[in-house]
Amino acid sequence: MKFNFDEIIDRNGTDAVKWDGMKEVWGRTDLIPLWVADMDFATAPFIMDAVRKRCENPVLGYTCKSDSYYNAIIRWVKSRYGLDVTKEMINYVPGIVPGIGMAMNAFTEKGDKVMIQPPVYHPFAWLTERNERTLVTCPLRWEGEMYRMDMAAFRERIKGCKLFILCNPHNPGGVVWQEEELQEVARICHDEGVLVFSDEIHADLTLPPYRHRPFAMISEEARMNSVTFMSPSKAFNMPGLSASHAIIPNPELRARFRKFMDACELDLGHAFAFLAVEAAYSNGTEWLEQCLAYIQGNVDYMDEYLKANAPKIKVVRPQASYLVWLDCREMGMTQEDLNRFFVEKARLALNDGAMFGKEGEGFMRFNAGCPRSVIERAMKQLVEAYQQL
Ligand SMILES: Cc1ncc(COP(=O)(O)O)c(C=O)c1O
Repeated sequence: MKFNFDEIIDRNGTDAVKWDGMKEVWGRTDLIPLWVADMDFATAPFIMDAVRKRCENPVLGYTCKSDSYYNAIIRWVKSRYGLDVTKEMINYVPGIVPGIGMAMNAFTEKGDKVMIQPPVYHPFAWLTERNERTLVTCPLRWEGEMYRMDMAAFRERIKGCKLFILCNPHNPGGVVWQEEELQEVARICHDEGVLVFSDEIHADLTLPPYRHRPFAMISEEARMNSVTFMSPSKAFNMPGLSASHAIIPNPELRARFRKFMDACELDLGHAFAFLAVEAAYSNGTEWLEQCLAYIQGNVDYMDEYLKANAPKIKVVRPQASYLVWLDCREMGMTQEDLNRFFVEKARLALNDGAMFGKEGEGFMRFNAGCPRSVIERAMKQLVEAYQQL
């Protein structure tokens, strides 16, 4: 491999949530941090070069979004997904969670119903509740090895909602949705007059042979009835740069969103945001291919090791991203005991499955975006703890 994903980088003392934040959450620092969704690999080198180059000029003044920034996004989504986007459709947002929160405020009112599909990325529920909207859930259906959408329940539960938040691909389950599921979602939401937010932050991390399908490409109806959130932040490991975008093909929706953003100048951005996006999308193909192969290797290792040594902990193989959903239901523990087992016995800091909704009980989320030697150490600690049960 040209790029070194084996390198151990000490992130302690960098105010990294994943590392320095362990003390606040667990009151200890001796755990292997495998929770917060960033990777322990070096941020892609061409991004670091672009940031360094910018720092050669000593004035960190107000920064505009250049045509080359927009063009890099346009070229990337076209070449990777075949998605046609124009500059006008691209709206900078300082992160996808803030972007969803802003768009929720732009397109819905207090009390409006917002539907999500748990177990799902937990800020979808927080954003809905903290913005005083009404949360409606339509749980995913577990089908032995992977989640699928429950379309009959979807058709019922979506009635009366104003907004549906789709996680595409899905976190924490790692699902790349089937074309038919997305078509059905597009059809139902169009017929019911429900706007769709498609969070596609994990899209670039789709693992071969799976292929990401942007929701906006499902049909003309889907394109005109959706806001797609994308960012190079997960795939190129730069979430600390708060650089994301909301793609809005429908001019009326766009005008409404812009009006909201402009009222408080929420899309100002910062001196490193746009150049980092441009660097990622202009140079990223080879790095990303190697990174995905490395992640796949980590998942293979975990899967084989646990199958051989801790068969009651099952790896739900992600079709996208480095987040591995561990099915621990056969261990027969309460969620509280499961959490305690991972921290006190295995000395691993994972995400509690129940934080993604009560449907996540019996599961834990493991972040495999780290050097293989860390995965090996984590698996060893886990199996030692398991064998003592
Ligand atoms: C589905 C999903 N959306 C959004 C985010 C976070 O996005 P941001 O850091 O841009 O707010 C994450 C991070 O894990 C995620 O998994």
